[in-house]
Amino acid sequence: MPESMDSRTRSGFDITFPTATQSGVDQHEEFCEVTVGGRRRRIRFHDYGEIYAIPGLYEHLFYDRLQCTSPEVVSALLEEELVKAGAAPSDLTVIDIGAGNGMMGEQLQRIGASALVGVDIIEEAAVAARRDRPGVYREYRVVDLTKLEPDDRTALAAYGFNALTTVAALGFGDMPPLALAEAFNMLSVPGWVAFTIKDDFLHDRHKTGFSALVRQMSEEGPLEIAATRRYRHRLSAGGEPLFYLAVVGRKRSDVPLDWAE
Ligand SMILES: C[S@@+](CC[C@H](N)C(=O)[O-])C[C@H]1O[C@@H](n2cnc3c(N)ncnc32)[C@H](O)[C@@H]1O
Repeated sequence: MPESMDSRTRSGFDITFPTATQSGVDQHEEFCEVTVGGRRRRIRFHDYGEIYAIPGLYEHLFYDRLQCTSPEVVSALLEEELVKAGAAPSDLTVIDIGAGNGMMGEQLQRIGASALVGVDIIEEAAVAARRDRPGVYREYRVVDLTKLEPDDRTALAAYGFNALTTVAALGFGDMPPLALAEAFNMLSVPGWVAFTIKDDFLHDRHKTGFSALVRQMSEEGPLEIAATRRYRHRLSAGGEPLFYLAVVGRKRSDVPLDWAE
């Protein structure tokens, strides 16, 4: 449960979810209705810009109502693996991609990591992170990791990241595999990697996208998976559990970008 957003700010929403007939929609099409400023609005879960623009709505929708646990689970798994390796969170310089309004950054800070840079593709995320969790990120850059401008590449490289986190941001119309590969290649070796992915990613039927990229990275060397944990990421709009895998690993080498195509 996030702590820095005041509970009065986040509880005053009148949210309803789709009826049973509408609730079979794909995860990237999920929506809810909410009253904002006296007006009833339908908001797609993936219209992050609209959600972040309303203080407290993201937390109330995903964390209070749909019981999202991903930042806590991933940060706890990372912390466990750091302890096993005799490493300290304070040694990490982290790039958190698809950072949104800072839920993962807040958890990383809680476990003792403080050198954090947030990256997201939309300006509304940067604005919301500064508004809702000021001080969590040393810097927050709005960039498209699949089309990095030379200035952004240089500025990010200067941090010398040794850890990459990305939570609830891979697939489902969010980040494409190339974004993960680009960020992964910014890490030093051996870097730490911690992310979430749909729970069945190791199954052979997934021959494209993240499943294929992550499997190839782990089978052919760039990523050594240290630990995985299957857990309930959140409830769907229809109240069904959505299971994800938290993955923590070490970077052993760069990943060829054509693997992400
Ligand atoms: C579900 S939110 C997760 C936010 C945060 N990590 C959390 O756990 O609360 C997914 C985020 O990924 C961002 N995103 C989507 N595509 C992206 C891309 N190509 N590059 C960077 N961020 C992206 C979205 O803007 C959104 O803020």
